[in-house]
Amino acid sequence: MSKKPLILGIESSCDETAASLLTENEQGIPTILSNIISSQVNVHKEFGGVVPELAARSHVEKIDMIVQKAIDDSGRKIEDIDAIASTAGPGLIVCLSVGLSFGKALAASLDKPFIAVNHLEGHALSPKLDSNLNYPYLLLLISGGHSQFLNVQGLGKYKRLGTTIDDALGEAFDKTAKLLGIEFPGGPQIELLAKKGDPNKYILPKPIFNKGGCNLSFAGLKTAVLKISKKIKTDQEKFDLSASFQKTIEEILYKKTKIAFSEFENQNKVSTKKFVVAGGVAANKNIRSILKKLCEEENYQSIFPPIEFCGDNAAMIAMVGLEKFKLKQFNNLNYPAKPRWPLDENATFLKGAGVQL
Ligand SMILES: Nc1ncnc2c1ncn2[C@@H]1O[C@H](COP(=O)(O)OP(=O)(O)OP(=O)(O)O)[C@@H](O)[C@H]1O
Ligand SMILES: [Mg+2]
Repeated sequence: MSKKPLILGIESSCDETAASLLTENEQGIPTILSNIISSQVNVHKEFGGVVPELAARSHVEKIDMIVQKAIDDSGRKIEDIDAIASTAGPGLIVCLSVGLSFGKALAASLDKPFIAVNHLEGHALSPKLDSNLNYPYLLLLISGGHSQFLNVQGLGKYKRLGTTIDDALGEAFDKTAKLLGIEFPGGPQIELLAKKGDPNKYILPKPIFNKGGCNLSFAGLKTAVLKISKKIKTDQEKFDLSASFQKTIEEILYKKTKIAFSEFENQNKVSTKKFVVAGGVAANKNIRSILKKLCEEENYQSIFPPIEFCGDNAAMIAMVGLEKFKLKQFNNLNYPAKPRWPLDENATFLKGAGVQL
């Protein structure tokens, strides 16, 4: 039996301190040995969003304990680790620096390779944690900071087909929740409230619905929610606005994904067309079911990571680490933290006033 790589993944890009040990079985299927996540939701709740300095301080306080627990829970010894993979970006620089420095120091002390991981690549590869997924595939990444359609052609090979020109979808969910008086992070709460409401009560705008290819825009939606929320008096109206918001998002994603399908097909000649939805918002069950329906209509295989791997976690960082380890893609210990690190480095920056679509 050949020795399979044992990878330690470390994540600290935003408000989750996480560590995971990952290996693979004889068939090459990834096996998660431990997956520890410490969320800082309670630290940031009263501020309605993540406060970078508080987040960094909390990472510093917890990182050694979280990594130790990941090693203990895995049943392996620290000396058995073959490589250490830390998130190097994108994210808050003060937060990234904690997990990155910790990973580098551990790699140096164990004399093992260090691997710098793009957090978004972690989300992109998260479905591989429980499925045998081969390249290429179309990815819809919907998270707290990003909303993009990407043609995933291989490890490190991404072609962006579309992106949000303003807010990320997770941000739109959180801002809507805040306007309705729901505590941060409100995205998951909106999904629950929407179940009790009438999705046809409020007509909300669908920015760039009929133009801009598969690019996305959610800022106008937030403004409309702001105006309506000022007039809301009852709980039922709150439920109705949540349901109308959820329905509008579903309609936008359905239409834009259909466009992304045809762009993906123009770039790839494949017999099995695969569509992956990843990132925190991919936990939303209604979004999952509408996109699954579209996949059935368009003859795509739909792939969603398990709910626990949609939000930030270190197993997905170790997953990227495992693939890079096998290709011997190691990094020097002077690798910098990168607050901005797009998956497709050649894609045009499409944000701000005056964006031409
Ligand atoms: N069920 C849900 N419905 C809608 N949104 C959700 C749901 N669950 C989580 N979210 C949203 O997902 C986001 C968090 O996702 P994630 O942790 O991937 O983002 P992030 O790491 O902050 O951003 P990024 O990965 O872009 O750097 C939050 O905005 C949260 O509200
Ligand atoms: Mg994330």
